[in-house]
Amino acid sequence: MTFTPNFRPRRLRLTRQLRRLVRETMVSTSDLIYPLFVKEGAEGKQPISSMPGQYQFSLDALTEEVEELVDLDIPAVILFGIPQHKDAIGSGNFDSEGIVPRAIRKIKDLTDELLVISDMCFCEYTSHGHCGIINTPDSDYFSDDLPQGYLLNDPTLQYLGQASVVHAQAGADVIAPSGMLDGMIGAIRQQLDTAGLQQTAIMSYAAKYSSSFYGPFREAAESPPSFGDRSQYQMDPANAREAITEVQQDVDQGADILMVKPALPYLDILSTIRQQFSLPLAAYQVSGEFSMIHAAAQQGWIDLQRVAAESLTSIKRAGADMILSYFTKDFARWQEA
Ligand code: PBG
Repeated sequence: MTFTPNFRPRRLRLTRQLRRLVRETMVSTSDLIYPLFVKEGAEGKQPISSMPGQYQFSLDALTEEVEELVDLDIPAVILFGIPQHKDAIGSGNFDSEGIVPRAIRKIKDLTDELLVISDMCFCEYTSHGHCGIINTPDSDYFSDDLPQGYLLNDPTLQYLGQASVVHAQAGADVIAPSGMLDGMIGAIRQQLDTAGLQQTAIMSYAAKYSSSFYGPFREAAESPPSFGDRSQYQMDPANAREAITEVQQDVDQGADILMVKPALPYLDILSTIRQQFSLPLAAYQVSGEFSMIHAAAQQGWIDLQRVAAESLTSIKRAGADMILSYFTKDFARWQEA
């Protein structure tokens, strides 16, 4: 093939100013949501060893953190609670004096600048670490037709709705169910509406994969399953078409914001969902994505700031309107520098 001098894409890469002008994708702090872990009975803030710079916060320690987030003009947080007591049905999740409702009230007392999203799942609250009620012979919901150890769908929906009402009444702006149960969006929407909480939005973890990238989070949230894994409810990483079915269901049931999770290994899914659905779309850059970048940077193999920024840009380029990211605070500081 002969070189055609008329076609020279490199012309527009010549200077920094040109590159800025033709840049198609920009990440800004306004796109980012910061995950916060709040721990009942904790003192101060406890570092999470597998996630550099991330902590489990006591209620007291939240004050300083929230001030910092507001100073950095970060728009939103998503809360994960670590209760002191766990039981078979995860009752800590629908206790209005539980750790998350208390954290929500505390944040809302401190500021009205921060949107509060509440992650809605039972895995941090159940003694077995699964995302709802498990089929065991001693359970009120025991079913002979289903295998023992199976996560019971419909009994869990009732509790999910109940806990969502409690978190919304505490002041959560958005409820974000992450358990991948069938019908969870419809059940939560109905219970919120019945309780007069029509303004509370639902961000659905709509296409959430059964991923090994959640490893560090399970240390952070103290929520590893005590037996088995989550492959009976979270999606198989091999499936792409199924994500469309999952998302369609959540749209039909009244989701306001959709999410794909994890982010970087699932950019194809993000891109497909962006093309097929018009609702706002979030992506969760999960703990493993964050920790891998840190680990490689600690070895001196990659540049932390550049790889983090490139990852966020790629996630946005693939179609995310907003990104849940542990890099949120760092990114906001890099923008100010
Ligand atoms: C479930 C939940 C998980 C994450 C967010 N919500 C863990 C899981 O499904 O096992 C993972 C987030 C991350 O890895 O950063 N409540």
